[in-house]
Amino acid sequence: MPLDSFAATRTNELASAEPCAIVIFGATGDLTQRKLLPAIYNLKREGLLHENTVVIGFARRPKTDEQFRAEMLDGVSRFSRSKPVDATVWEKVAAKLFYHQSTFEDPAGFESVAKRLAEFDQKFQTEGRRMYYLSTSPSEFSPIIKNLGDAGLGNIDPFNAKAWRRVIVEKPFGRDRKTACDLNQEISRVFDESQVYRIDHYLGKQTVQNMLVFRFANGIFEPIWNRNHVDHVQITVGETLGVEARGGYYDTAGALRDMIQNHLMQLLALTAMEPPVGLDATSIRDEKVKVLRCIQALTPAEVGQRTIRGQYLAGKFGGKDVKGYRQEEKVAPDSQTETFAAVKLFIHNWRWNGVPFYLRSGKRMPKQGSEICIHFKPAPGVLFNSSGREVVNNVLVLRVQPHEGISLLINAKTPGNVTRIAPAHMDFDYDLAFGSYSPEAYERLLLDAILGDSTLFIRNDEVETAWRIIDSIETAWTKGTPPLAFYAPGTWGPTEGGTLMERENRHWDALIDTSARELAIDADY
Ligand code: BG6
Repeated sequence: MPLDSFAATRTNELASAEPCAIVIFGATGDLTQRKLLPAIYNLKREGLLHENTVVIGFARRPKTDEQFRAEMLDGVSRFSRSKPVDATVWEKVAAKLFYHQSTFEDPAGFESVAKRLAEFDQKFQTEGRRMYYLSTSPSEFSPIIKNLGDAGLGNIDPFNAKAWRRVIVEKPFGRDRKTACDLNQEISRVFDESQVYRIDHYLGKQTVQNMLVFRFANGIFEPIWNRNHVDHVQITVGETLGVEARGGYYDTAGALRDMIQNHLMQLLALTAMEPPVGLDATSIRDEKVKVLRCIQALTPAEVGQRTIRGQYLAGKFGGKDVKGYRQEEKVAPDSQTETFAAVKLFIHNWRWNGVPFYLRSGKRMPKQGSEICIHFKPAPGVLFNSSGREVVNNVLVLRVQPHEGISLLINAKTPGNVTRIAPAHMDFDYDLAFGSYSPEAYERLLLDAILGDSTLFIRNDEVETAWRIIDSIETAWTKGTPPLAFYAPGTWGPTEGGTLMERENRHWDALIDTSARELAIDADY
């Protein structure tokens, strides 16, 4: 579908968004307050949700509707991107916001929620349209899915196509390939794949979506987007925070499972995929899966050479004393869990064969930010390299966050009578170009799921394929290859991380937009 007709279709869809009931399982958790209710509030504020959309928080703790509304208002006041809260809009949200108390294992709780949903169908004309949002700990996914099925809440009415049932599943989706396949199978007993929306909130970020536009709506990049012109690709997601209050979960996951398996693999797939045959969900996801399938599982020896795992120590960060990972709440004092992971992967296809993709992500890094850096091969060194110092290679930086934008590192002559060459950035900044409006990832994803557009969600084969690669690394890591290394807070991971690059005469970009400006070279001719 061409982009303009895609936009037109989307506008028509928005105009016709019908009322539905959204049931959030695990509604007393952090995600609901921080992300989901602020997203629902902002969608309502912008007129993108139907007036009659109903939200039901389903969780264990006893609570009245009023208490739940007050807590959610508190969350929206603190975390909404638009502030202060517009009382009129909130009144509208609150009028359709309810609480349902039950454990996730109790069939009676699902039967009673089914009754409530049927009442809402009459009262608010939701007519059987249901969105189930699984925002619980992953161990609860199975009982919820089973109970939804047993209560008849997953079935689609064959005589009423408008009464759709969809389920959004939060990450982590499994902890290895086997558990992901098992979960896929359990879900498939109740829901058809077309009803399943596996979330990766990175796909809801504006700049991530712009990657498709950037690559396929501009003719000049595709001809050089391959092994003939690209030297290597770096994908960095750095976070300055530690694990905060999430030690219980994080200690069972680590950076590889928490970030690389999903967010960084998605960024890699979008960077490397072939042009899709259309902009529909199947075409785009087919191309992403093809990229992941072309990445071979690593042998134990390759894991030793091509991966680094690190854990942050206690130390000074931002002028304050911060705890080491092992001292964090709910973390084992001898934990082997990595808070930093770096891997070098190859995509064995015609476009990318031999081009390394370096992925790294860590907590307590010096800077917060996510970037994809495409490093191009050097210009022939026949004119400007005579002084013995090299001009820099061109680097295209896709800044996912913050300061969303794109910049191209080029060599330029500095002003003056002497020919000096310095690297300079040609910069495109989203805020400057289009204003600072930037909806939160969860707004876009919730809206897409309501509209039945699964393009920005992960398909079953995609998640399983990504796990296959991660499993090969985890298997060697659990056997101690390579050993866990340690790093001081505020550094780019253990010094061993550099060896991944230095061995090959490359270096990591320290989120390149600020670092490369200092380089300057002289050249005589
Ligand atoms: C989540 C991870 O998926 O992504 C967190 O579980 C991480 O550990 C977060 O902090 C990062 O997301 P963002 O949008 O802040 O880059």
